[in-house]
Amino acid sequence: MCGIVGFAGKRPAAPFLLDGLSKLEYRGYDSAGIAVFCDKIRTVKSQGRLADLRAKVDTVSHLDGTLGIGHTRWATHGAPNDINSHPHTSMSGRVSIVHNGIIENYIPLKQELEAAGVVFRSETDTEVVAQLFDYYYEGDMIDTLIRVIGRIRGSYALGILCSDHPDQLVAVRKDSPLIIGLGEGENYIASDIPAVLEHTRDYYLLEDNEIAILKADSVELLDLNKNPVHHDVYTVTYDISAAEKGGYEYFMMKEIMEQPRAMRTCIGSRLTENGEVKLDKIRLTEEQIRNIGRIHIVACGSAWHAGIVAKYVIEEMTRIPVEVDLASEFRYRRPILSRNDLCITISQSGETADTLAALREARANDVHVLSIVNAVGSSIARESDDVLYTMAGPEIAVATTKGYSTQLAVIYLIALKFAAIRKTLKPARIQELTQALINLPDQIEALTKMDQRLREMATENADKNDVFIIGRGIDYGASMESSLKLKEISYVHSEAYAAGELKHGTISLIEDGSLVIAVATQDALYEKLVSNVKEIKARGAHVIAIVKEGCTDVEEVADEVIYIPSTDDLYTSSLTVIPMQLFAYYVAIARGCDVDKPRNLAKSVTVE
Ligand code: G6P
Repeated sequence: MCGIVGFAGKRPAAPFLLDGLSKLEYRGYDSAGIAVFCDKIRTVKSQGRLADLRAKVDTVSHLDGTLGIGHTRWATHGAPNDINSHPHTSMSGRVSIVHNGIIENYIPLKQELEAAGVVFRSETDTEVVAQLFDYYYEGDMIDTLIRVIGRIRGSYALGILCSDHPDQLVAVRKDSPLIIGLGEGENYIASDIPAVLEHTRDYYLLEDNEIAILKADSVELLDLNKNPVHHDVYTVTYDISAAEKGGYEYFMMKEIMEQPRAMRTCIGSRLTENGEVKLDKIRLTEEQIRNIGRIHIVACGSAWHAGIVAKYVIEEMTRIPVEVDLASEFRYRRPILSRNDLCITISQSGETADTLAALREARANDVHVLSIVNAVGSSIARESDDVLYTMAGPEIAVATTKGYSTQLAVIYLIALKFAAIRKTLKPARIQELTQALINLPDQIEALTKMDQRLREMATENADKNDVFIIGRGIDYGASMESSLKLKEISYVHSEAYAAGELKHGTISLIEDGSLVIAVATQDALYEKLVSNVKEIKARGAHVIAIVKEGCTDVEEVADEVIYIPSTDDLYTSSLTVIPMQLFAYYVAIARGCDVDKPRNLAKSVTVE
């Protein structure tokens, strides 16, 4: 959601800004712009894709300054048009700002400035910051910024240029991600690492309300009292190719295909030679684990779907009651929390605003927070008591695939560890489950090879406007994620339904030609699901069944059958989701959708 880049160096800034923005496209955007200090601050902005911005930039001469900022905007306040896109310039033209986040009190501030004669051009909350900055400015950018921060409320990552200071770029953040890239004779700001990866692997992570002053040869970090701040330099460990498409048409397909490897890394590094789970260096003690009264899982989107599956798995293995909440609900519903509870937050990006707020709510109630995160050093990772990284590598496509799969893997590991400590499973059963876990990456790999078959199936069904995905128990949880994949990238209306609930209303929507995908991988529930399929078939639906190897009798009732390799019933979600990811991908391709950048969606939702 919104991407920020900034450059202070000795060569023209514009090429860096445009390339950097292209690496942040995955975050979701509907307009883009750059501002470069030349003889004055020159701004080029465009609605639409980066290609439109590049075309405009090409028509501007003398955009060769060496200091600049850039932005991809995901519209919140005001339509996605040229005027509302960033950078925003103050009335005098002296100050230019890019912003990610939301300024919650922008209306009273705007009224105040208008009363003082300031004329606004856009409908955005961001322009208020640019105008306020200019209004307070008396020659020192840092003093001004500190005053501005004292007035604005909400979340922000800001990159600021002032034409009186043609050699420095100033940045600050609060509840919105921003990194400071450290180059040779040049330095950068960016919302995320891929934007700078071609130029440096070294970066600082800013904490809330820390200010960075970037010049070509220096980076200075200050707190709000202007005291110097020291941070360790982080170094990106993954290869640059991990953030590139590597020959695939879309990142999403690359990431689907990376799942076996990601799962091997995630699981393999957490099993000892004797097959025991070791959960990194978490602070949560065995004593605390034995005493957990209740687990609250909090997340958004696909991570929440991983949480739904987690409820079944953790309750079954550890007998600890688990509640699963959408972070946006949890944070406002005054959840009942006790000291012996454990809160698990799940987030690929580690920056989702609602999940971060939920985490803070839990910690404020003295509840230990263990987070499952992919992005190393992200806000959620840093603010949690413990973090278990999913180690999936950078995920660029908006629709998560390897992020979700590795979240499930970490959940299985947690459940196994807790079960061992709490002795809720016999050692032989733990061994059996551990072996099944070790087998998962190969089984996922086998499923990714069904690529062509899924392509045909998807192409044949790409004209469907409504798809129902049904399952019971864990299969219901997996159905939710499968349904979201279809909605997100192919814009096909789809609903996940608990199969037993279908006849309490939704079955009235099933008619000749409706597509129903029935997930039936749970031994104890299999026959019940087959009966549900019969009911649906009787109403004319076309049925694709997803079942475990050997369940061939389903061929008598379903039109098509996808077999997944045999695994423990607790782990089947990790397998059923693979063909569904491929199915959604190919339906999206057949419908001509932009798979990696679905309309209206953002990869990292950093506002409420
Ligand atoms: C956005 C993305 C989803 C993702 C959700 C949670 O809505 O489009 O794919 O599941 O955020 O993101 P997180 O980074 O917290 O896992």
